Amino acid sequence: MEKLALHGGDKAHAGSWPAWPICEERDIERITQVARSGKWGVGGELVPEFEARFAEFVGVEHCTCVTSGTTALEVALLALGVGPGDEVIVPPYTFIATASSALYVGAVPVFADIDPDTFCIDPARIEEVSTEKTKAIIPVHIGGSPCDMDAINEIAQKHDLFVIEDCAQAHGAEWKGRRVGGLGHISAFSFQVSKNIPAGEGGAVCTSDRKLAERVWSIHNCGRVPEGAWYQHDILGWNLRMTQFQAAVLLGGLERVEEQMKLRDANGKYLSQRLSEIEGITPSKDTPGATRNAYHLHMSKFDAAGFDGLPRSAFVEAMRAEGVPFSAGYNPLYKSPAIVAASPVDYSDVCCPACERICDQEGLWLSQNVLLASQSDMDDIADAALKVQRNVSALLAAAPASE
Ligand SMILES: Cc1ncc(COP(=O)(O)O)c(C=O)c1O
Repeated sequence: MEKLALHGGDKAHAGSWPAWPICEERDIERITQVARSGKWGVGGELVPEFEARFAEFVGVEHCTCVTSGTTALEVALLALGVGPGDEVIVPPYTFIATASSALYVGAVPVFADIDPDTFCIDPARIEEVSTEKTKAIIPVHIGGSPCDMDAINEIAQKHDLFVIEDCAQAHGAEWKGRRVGGLGHISAFSFQVSKNIPAGEGGAVCTSDRKLAERVWSIHNCGRVPEGAWYQHDILGWNLRMTQFQAAVLLGGLERVEEQMKLRDANGKYLSQRLSEIEGITPSKDTPGATRNAYHLHMSKFDAAGFDGLPRSAFVEAMRAEGVPFSAGYNPLYKSPAIVAASPVDYSDVCCPACERICDQEGLWLSQNVLLASQSDMDDIADAALKVQRNVSALLAAAPASE
């Protein structure tokens, strides 16, 4: 008799998933052009060209490319004058850089829970943790899913706070028809290799405020003065300039992004539909008002009750064995040893229940390249989950007999 198991037999998805990053002939030509030109850094044309095109893509006046999404957040905070004595409200469900950037500029990250349906920061929770020390909010368009920017901007206006959009995962996402990254005072993007527009590493700071953009430029360029002399440094800055090689690949990524977004959107919606028909899996919802999800991640919630009590970790393992690369995602940032050690604030009493449930028991992620596959590959994902569900039931049904 065939041995009963959570997974086994023919894999639900036998093939591979689309490779990432994508490199085409035009990318190789641009990289070669940079290599041959000798203009690898300052003085090259491709970084300014990409900055202009990306500003247009985002719908802002100014874009400055930097070395990473992490440094983009730090530069944005510094340019706004956020520093010691200030509090910055962040979601606990995000990459560490959202909170560590506040600590690096001497400010304190304060955590506001997420909405359990959208996984994005919950505006109602922002109000609850806001104090007279609060200087800024960093909403994260998590997984490419836009936050409720109307509610966040309203709170910011009421309390005179800066809004720094963390768009590391959300290139091209839209809120009420407008691209994210131009909806607050300033925004930070990442071009790290897994991101929807990748450069290996890299980032960008976007804003339509000219004075703010000048400070950003100065901070990322050793404190130099726009239009000033090469050795004129009026403030302390860093060298966070991007190389022309990175811009060479970014230009190709920007040319490809619209087509890829359409495919991710169609597959993301189809997959959500299929998964929502399975008891025990609930895809995340878009915030009402979000008009385009960038689907850096396809996110769902797992309910063990729909799988006869199977823990999420066993489900993820079984799905991976079936060829579906689910992962469980983040841990609450206020429990991160790095954040706890670096922050002057004691987070031991902080509890964000929605975040904790999603981190500890429910969250399921698929990365964006999976959504660049075909619709029948999306069927494989749902069919794999149904297969695991059937196998759990069969195992349980067989359990008493084998005792
Ligand atoms: C939400 C978020 N913010 C910031 C960052 C930092 O970007 P980078 O890795 O380019 O420093 C990331 C990267 O993973 C991210 O996902």
